[in-house]
Amino acid sequence: MTSKPSKKSYGIFTTFLLHLHPPMVDKSAIKFTRTFGLGGINALLFVILAVTGVLLRFSYIPTPNQAYESILNLQNQTFLGGLLRNLHHWSAKLMVITAFLHLLRVFFTQSIYFERKRNWFYGLGLFALILAFNFTGYLLPWDQLSFWAVTVVSNMPYYIPFVGEGLSNFLRGGPDVDGHTLLNFYNLHTSILPLLFVVLMSLHFYLVRKAKGVTLENPEEKEMVIVMPNLVIRETLVALGLFIGLLLVSMLFAAPLLEYANPQLSPNPIKAPWYFAGMQELLIHIHPTLAILVVPVLFIGFLFWMPSQEIKRENIGKWFYNEQGKSILIYSSLLSFFFTFALVLINDYIIADMMNSLTPLLFGWIPFIIYILLTIGIIFFLKKKFKIDKFELFNALFTIIFTSYVVLSLISIYLRGNNMELIF
Ligand code: HEM
Ligand code: HEM
Repeated sequence: MTSKPSKKSYGIFTTFLLHLHPPMVDKSAIKFTRTFGLGGINALLFVILAVTGVLLRFSYIPTPNQAYESILNLQNQTFLGGLLRNLHHWSAKLMVITAFLHLLRVFFTQSIYFERKRNWFYGLGLFALILAFNFTGYLLPWDQLSFWAVTVVSNMPYYIPFVGEGLSNFLRGGPDVDGHTLLNFYNLHTSILPLLFVVLMSLHFYLVRKAKGVTLENPEEKEMVIVMPNLVIRETLVALGLFIGLLLVSMLFAAPLLEYANPQLSPNPIKAPWYFAGMQELLIHIHPTLAILVVPVLFIGFLFWMPSQEIKRENIGKWFYNEQGKSILIYSSLLSFFFTFALVLINDYIIADMMNSLTPLLFGWIPFIIYILLTIGIIFFLKKKFKIDKFELFNALFTIIFTSYVVLSLISIYLRGNNMELIF
């Protein structure tokens, strides 16, 4: 129990903090396992990326002739240049993971309904921006790895009927990845995306405060504590841990850099960046229009539509919705893991061969239909076993789809060799 904080005691630092936090917070809201500090970790990662990014700009030159050399100079001849690049590289990768974990945290604590619905949409926007940051940054070193990975991914929109080719050419500044693409990506990466990100992140913070903080497991047990030092100490510890961890990783592991990009010599296999690897794997199995357009539109549509459903207020904030939520999660992820893996093997070794002798119209539809049927099968099984309601079904469906994406990504990254053939 605490007394009301006196306004007179606020210094500049505290006043700044109170723009980010209210003066008092609920004790259970600052328990580590409520948020795992993930929102704050993402914010700090962005600050680290912005600072290291601006410093990288001092020596980076965005032309095909000089980009690679400027990175080599930075790594080998600039004081702490290598460390700077490594910090930027590893923070960027980590941010995809921490933003995704934060997404899972808010999703599985049902923190996306009513007054938080708009923040879920902003969050999805932030996640898209993080992927865009990573993808545009990927090209900048202009080595074999970045050149060909961007070529593979920037060809993907071609499968979107009518607009795909135009969209792809617009982003690349022409039909191929070249100097125009590098300049476009550099401008996006260092000017447009940071601006959009700061605006969206500010709105996101504003809405967290407007919703009176994060959701609670038991909102009726209220016990308010003063934010400074209770929350601020925890945030400082998480920030210190993150920073030291990143510094260690950046000192031990160098960001990859292959040889200078050669548009005439493609490596085998050419792999997409890891966060798009699942997409590349999906393209091997199902019709390209299904993989690039239909599946993403359906999944993103589902993510946008779901929070407008009428959930009971008492279920908000509960991890996995209710007591049986954890079991539903385990069943859906294990079944999805097993079926996706099995379907990839069956498609590679059996269906794909059969397809060669079938009409091309059927290409890629059979595995897609089997996947839909298997998903319906899992849902029916869960309905029978757990008598799941609408919101448990949302959680199960989300788990099934994201587990499949993880399995597809792992297969693409670790089990695909020359000509993208399966290797064990
Ligand atoms: C906010 C301002 C930012 C600026 C000014 C900036 C600037 C730069 C520059 C100049 C490079 C080229 C140097 C290099 O490749 O080593 C780069 C690379 C990169 N950036 Fe950023 N960046 C910013 C933010 C971000 C963010 C928020 C992310 C990710 C979430 C990100 C991800 C990357 C990636 C993945 C690379 C390639 C790194 C590598 O593999 O070497 N950047 N950035
Ligand atoms: C870099 C990006 C992001 C930053 C800096 C950020 C920051 C934050 C912070 C500080 C909070 C409050 C504390 C916490 O939950 O940890 C929060 C809550 C929230 N975030 Fe994010 N977030 C980001 C990305 C996302 C993403 C990708 C999503 C989902 C798609 C999302 C959805 C939400 C929602 C719905 C809440 C409210 C949760 C609640 O009230 O319990 N955010 N965010």
